[in-house]
Amino acid sequence: MLGINIGIDLGTTSVMACVEGKGIVLSEPAVVAYRKTTGKVMAIGRAALRMLGREPDSVEVVRPMKDGVVSDFTVTEHMLRYFIMQICGNKIFKPNIIVSMPGTVTNLEKRTVLDVITASGAGRACLIEEPLAAAIGAGIDITHPSGVMVVDIGGGTTDIAVITMGAMAVASSIKIAGNMLTDDIVRYCRRERDIIIGELTAEEIKKRVGCAYLRREETAVFAKGKDYFTGMPIDFEITSNEVYLAMREHINMIFEEIRNVFEQTPPELVSDIVEEGIVLTGGSAQLFGIDKMIEKLTKINTRVADDPVNCVIGGIGKVLGDTYFLEENGYLFKSRQDITGSITEEKEVF
Ligand SMILES: Nc1ncnc2c1ncn2[C@@H]1O[C@H](COP(=O)(O)OP(=O)(O)OP(=O)(O)O)[C@@H](O)[C@H]1O
Ligand SMILES: [Mg+2]
Repeated sequence: MLGINIGIDLGTTSVMACVEGKGIVLSEPAVVAYRKTTGKVMAIGRAALRMLGREPDSVEVVRPMKDGVVSDFTVTEHMLRYFIMQICGNKIFKPNIIVSMPGTVTNLEKRTVLDVITASGAGRACLIEEPLAAAIGAGIDITHPSGVMVVDIGGGTTDIAVITMGAMAVASSIKIAGNMLTDDIVRYCRRERDIIIGELTAEEIKKRVGCAYLRREETAVFAKGKDYFTGMPIDFEITSNEVYLAMREHINMIFEEIRNVFEQTPPELVSDIVEEGIVLTGGSAQLFGIDKMIEKLTKINTRVADDPVNCVIGGIGKVLGDTYFLEENGYLFKSRQDITGSITEEKEVF
């Protein structure tokens, strides 16, 4: 195939990209800022994230991916076109792109992702399931006839999969992950403390003192917010126990889903998982104590993969140029014509 091979992890919170032979070349927040009146894009990625929560009425700052799927086609297309241009410049041949998606998406959602990728400048596009890519990136040999369980806890979705012989035997994807835990903290501060905080502050609190079970030694962090009644700025302290209580319900729901997947898994594969353990990937696998919590409740050895945020893109990077693996496992590159039956003209981003 002509054109360079690019891998993209199109996440709810961030977009990562790698190029065959070069490794990871891009990691940007999946955020776009545009003018409401004209629809003109003002900033993409990190620059747009800085505007989040600070934008005037005339500007909209959005995350075009929601729960692991495309929620705003046009804005996603703008964002991807911009990133692809950054990677490829003005190369003559369009790139071939492998993009990850949650393990359980509908055919329509698959088609939409392929559609948006090829509309954004890919010559040919191919999809790979996020848990499979995460497992490969975590260094697991997925081709063995032995079951492994991977739980990818990202921003918008938690993907749970039992993988054997290079494919998913059981998979589940729930729309409960890191961003919902962040929202829990925002809601808690409003409800219990009468303080209004922004999403970025809540996320910082979660990273600093958040935990999946009560810490033996309670810690606390200072944060800035707004008094709900007076509207005046306020400095306040929030403890790890409070943050845990705020997020507890959703953390339990993630565990419940792991249990559901075990219920659907054939006994032989369950015994394999008991032997091999459960592997956690994704940004939210870094939440303090989430591995211990899952291990305690399942009684199965659980570990966080090395560099959990980069497992999916690392996995895509490993298979990017491996035509044998891709063909053997039925991953086919499709052109825009194969997907939509039409060819769209190039557009300018800014
Ligand atoms: N140290 C940390 N502790 C807790 N959560 C964290 C930490 N670091 C990052 N996160 C959370 O990880 C999430 C982002 O993870 P990731 O980059 O894997 O998501 P994504 O791939 O964009 O989303 P998805 O796969 O759901 O579409 C965010 O919700 C972020 O708050
Ligand atoms: Mg992800």
